[in-house]
Amino acid sequence: MKIPDDQEEFSLSPLRMEYLGPLSMILCSMDPWLTMEYTPEAFESYLLHGDPGLARQVIMISGQVAGVLSVRNPWLFGPLIELLALFDGFRSKGTGARIIQWVGNRYKPENLWVTVASFNRGARKFYEREGFEKTALLDDLIKPGWSEMLLRKKIGRRR
Ligand SMILES: CC(C)(COP(=O)(O)OP(=O)(O)OC[C@H]1O[C@@H](n2cnc3c(N)ncnc32)[C@H](O)[C@@H]1OP(=O)(O)O)[C@@H](O)C(=O)NCCC(=O)NCCS
Repeated sequence: MKIPDDQEEFSLSPLRMEYLGPLSMILCSMDPWLTMEYTPEAFESYLLHGDPGLARQVIMISGQVAGVLSVRNPWLFGPLIELLALFDGFRSKGTGARIIQWVGNRYKPENLWVTVASFNRGARKFYEREGFEKTALLDDLIKPGWSEMLLRKKIGRRR
């Protein structure tokens, strides 16, 4: 795996209230959410609503907010990565791969799961390279006419 070292290591921080508005605006302005016409209000509510099974965190790199990670656990013999987004300037430098590795180390799961919009070829390529395989096509999941792929990375039994 190619991991260039021109980008500092990431860290994860709790989602603070003052981040909500700016993060929601950025997420709506980038694909796949731009194409799917997400609204800032929908993101704010997703990031804020009470949900003890959902760990929502900010990805920090070099003291800057570089993205968002949201992981649902427990899910299906392993966690579901519900939201992974790296902002402009922080992509294609190996951070996404390191975050997948971090989730694996943190939860020590038998499986890792993620959904990806069918049209999001870049992310599909990324997850494929990280060892995820397509398990199902979920039509009309988020909005009528849009399909999501459910991807699974089998890690195997640890007990
Ligand atoms: C998908 C994502 C999390 C990957 O993180 P990353 O740090 O960019 O990933 P890495 O640097 O570890 O790997 C990048 C590789 O993934 C693929 N890739 C990822 N996103 C891509 C994109 N938008 N277009 C083309 N290729 C992409 C490429 O193979 C790329 O390899 P390259 O840099 O040699 O071209 C990040 O690109 C991102 O946030 N994208 C926008 C939001 C998104 O689609 N999130 C996933 C929703 S399910």
